Amino acid sequence: MRMLVLGGTGHGSGWIAAEGVARGHEVVCAARGRSGAVPPGARLVKVDRSVPDALAPLAGERFDAVVDVAYGALGWVREALRAVDAGHWTFVSSINTYADTATMHQTADAPQVPPVHDEQRVELTDTTPEHYGGIEVASEHAVRDAMGDRALIVRPGPISGPGDKTDRFAYWAGRFHRGGRVVVPDDPAQPIQHLDARDFAQWVVSSAEQRLTGAFDAVGPTLNFLDTLREIAEIVGQDNTEPIPLAPAELQTAGVNHWQGRKSLPLWLPESFYGLVSHDWSATRDAGLTIRPLAETVHSALAEELRRDERPRAAGLTDAEEAELLG
Ligand SMILES: NC(=O)c1ccc[n+]([C@@H]2O[C@H](COP(=O)([O-])OP(=O)(O)OC[C@H]3O[C@@H](n4cnc5c(N)ncnc54)[C@H](OP(=O)(O)O)[C@@H]3O)[C@@H](O)[C@H]2O)c1
Repeated sequence: MRMLVLGGTGHGSGWIAAEGVARGHEVVCAARGRSGAVPPGARLVKVDRSVPDALAPLAGERFDAVVDVAYGALGWVREALRAVDAGHWTFVSSINTYADTATMHQTADAPQVPPVHDEQRVELTDTTPEHYGGIEVASEHAVRDAMGDRALIVRPGPISGPGDKTDRFAYWAGRFHRGGRVVVPDDPAQPIQHLDARDFAQWVVSSAEQRLTGAFDAVGPTLNFLDTLREIAEIVGQDNTEPIPLAPAELQTAGVNHWQGRKSLPLWLPESFYGLVSHDWSATRDAGLTIRPLAETVHSALAEELRRDERPRAAGLTDAEEAELLG
């Protein structure tokens, strides 16, 4: 099939384009080319979606399947729907569209935040989760309105795997690899979910081939966070690792952040966000999503951590920050 990836140079969308090529499809990627190169075998059409009539270079082309990963960008989504002729349309939305962030085991028909009809692109760093989620909800509506029963809405939770620039997994793989006393959050109840970008891509492309429609959460099974950290430590395989659980209150008093970014314990969340990392994955599994063993995700994260050049790590504690906590 002829496939258009609106993106294709980044993490998730790059793996989608690569999967399309691997399955023998003709893959066209439309992006600026700033996030990276397109995978070998795909063709890049350089576009900047922030300018008017951005997709004019695609005028007159017909695609069997389109995958759009625009985020926080209702205007871009609408413009793509207007400009591109497609048989099937996958819009990659987000788990952040759900109104209830706390309740576990929700399904894709759970209530969403109200739509926000801001046309301009907003950066995730410049907005609130509700605002970002609202733009994603409005984008989902625009896709459904334009494509009707040819629309697939995909809502990923955290995406892991090779090329993940958030370093959420790389931090833990690298930290356990260095061994010694490792600060972990003392929260035995926290769930976690992730989906390796390679599994995500396989499912998105095979769903487009089958013209799957409806809304699905792109998540793996719900895991226990501390058990997952223990498993990562075992996979990494240092004998001298000693996890040191510290109480959430103590971590917060010391200024340690949740989830990602500087001075954080990556993937750690307060109870009010447990719902975002524990959606019910059974519908997506039944629609064909398969999950690779955690070891493959951890080995790729560790390989990237060990190859790390001058790029500072995007998440986690520095050695000095961890030593201060342990002291
Ligand atoms: N990563 C996660 O944990 C996560 C969680 C929930 C949902 N999601 C969703 O999953 C999808 C994939 O996420 P990702 O972070 O891996 O994204 P990604 O694949 O890195 O995709 C971003 C793409 O947008 C393109 N782009 C950015 N600005 C552009 C512009 N002005 N004009 C044209 N193209 C532009 C980038 O290309 P250039 O920079 O080369 O232009 C890149 O190819 C997104 O829809 C995201 O919302 C991700």
